[in-house]
Amino acid sequence: MKRIIVGISGASGTAIGIRILEALKKAGIETHLVMTRLGKKVLEDETDYTAEDTGKLASYTYSEDDFFAPIASGSFHSEGMVVAPCSMKTLAGIASGYTDNLLLRAADVMLKERRKLVLIARETPLSYIHIKNMKTVTKAGAVVIPPVLTFYSKPNTIEDMVMHVVGKALDQFGIDTKYKRWK
Ligand SMILES: Cc1cc2nc3c(=O)[nH]c(=O)nc-3n(C[C@H](O)[C@H](O)[C@H](O)COP(=O)(O)O)c2cc1C
Repeated sequence: MKRIIVGISGASGTAIGIRILEALKKAGIETHLVMTRLGKKVLEDETDYTAEDTGKLASYTYSEDDFFAPIASGSFHSEGMVVAPCSMKTLAGIASGYTDNLLLRAADVMLKERRKLVLIARETPLSYIHIKNMKTVTKAGAVVIPPVLTFYSKPNTIEDMVMHVVGKALDQFGIDTKYKRWK
């Protein structure tokens, strides 16, 4: 069975992380979830889900302090990791290699093992520091996918826009979520 690590940090757009977990479950992928403290708070503030409900969508869920979790080690094999959403603080942690929580450690492992790392980096407007950190992680091998508005798919709802970002993120792992593609 394929495994993907999912991180949810404290940026706006936590619904994207929830929908990614649901899509991976539907695709039969084993998921390993780590939510940061702020990730849980923002998720509960901007969605109808609790952190506990969200944890149940994953095959395995870990606390951000659990450095003994399997995903803290490169010897634990996975297809890669998606951080959705990725706050500018988490982006900075990944860019600098400052792995002081399990999400950051797991992302650092992806880069050192040359595995897929997809960051749904969310902030607007962007400062020079944010852009510099995006450049650094891109040079290190990560794929930065900002959750930007999409118009060519003629979305009717916010959910349509969310599912477009989910589709773009999971395309990186070769998982087709049947979102509205350009033809
Ligand atoms: C409601 C809410 C929305 C936030 N949205 C963002 C955001 O879109 N992008 C961002 O970088 N930080 C955002 N923040 C700030 C982060 O939560 C904060 O920097 C936090 O330290 C991130 O920690 P984490 O990366 O460990 O989850 C938001 C905070 C709150 C309370």
